[in-house]
Amino acid sequence: MVKPIRETDGPRHVAIIMDGNGRWATQRGRPRLFGHHAGARRVREIVEACPDAGVKYLTIFAFSTENWKRTQVEVAGLMSLFRRYIAKETRALKSENVRVRFIGDRIRLDHKLVALMDELEQFTSTCTGVNLTIAINYGSRDEVARAVKRLAQDAAAGRLDPDTVNEETLTRYLDTHVLPDPDLVIRTSGEARISNFLLWQSAYAEYEFVDTLWPDFSAEEFTRLVEGYRARDRRFGAVKA
Ligand code: IPE
Ligand code: IPE
Ligand code: MG
Repeated sequence: MVKPIRETDGPRHVAIIMDGNGRWATQRGRPRLFGHHAGARRVREIVEACPDAGVKYLTIFAFSTENWKRTQVEVAGLMSLFRRYIAKETRALKSENVRVRFIGDRIRLDHKLVALMDELEQFTSTCTGVNLTIAINYGSRDEVARAVKRLAQDAAAGRLDPDTVNEETLTRYLDTHVLPDPDLVIRTSGEARISNFLLWQSAYAEYEFVDTLWPDFSAEEFTRLVEGYRARDRRFGAVKA
């Protein structure tokens, strides 16, 4: 069923660092990939909770530029999980009017996965409901470095006047250029760190670090955090009159 996004006073954009799959599996005496599969199954419920929660943009961290340091078995298992996830969820996402985008550097990803990512983006490009952005091989520093490289190329080719470069110029070169900045960033699993996620974009985001491991994270907890956000006083450096 296609639900309209509820009008609220935010957060418009929630970003989630989905952490704790490995520990969740270890606690059950199972291999880490078992946790990743359980984690992938949580995504749909959170996406479905967005319209009622008034969340128009949801960005989720699925694989970081640093996650290549894991064992070959875990990395290959994650890549195969991403391919299966896309193939399996495509219809449901489209029928729920979810527009999917991917951020991160595709150059290091398997061409079959990249083809599926392109296809899903294309297939949902006319959807007008929740904007789901999935970060795969994403690292904020890598994103900024790639953006600066293209910006420098444009300047060298005379397409960009270096004297005009400002914050807005760099924002246009980021993978996230079509997204608003996140209002709320949630990290599960009890770790209170950012791990190279949306550093530039989250300059004024509110943060929530919760102990729940990602495969246990529920729509109720998500909605509670979103409601907690509304009680916060965002000042953006100013003093309220
Ligand atoms: C998050 O869960 C998913 C990815 C980083 C791919 P982890 O795999 O980091 O789980 P923990 O932190 O080891 O429990
Ligand atoms: C961050 O989790 C990346 C993702 C959730 C995809 P990690 O588990 O990789 O982060 P660290 O290593 O604990 O900082
Ligand atoms: Mg982790």
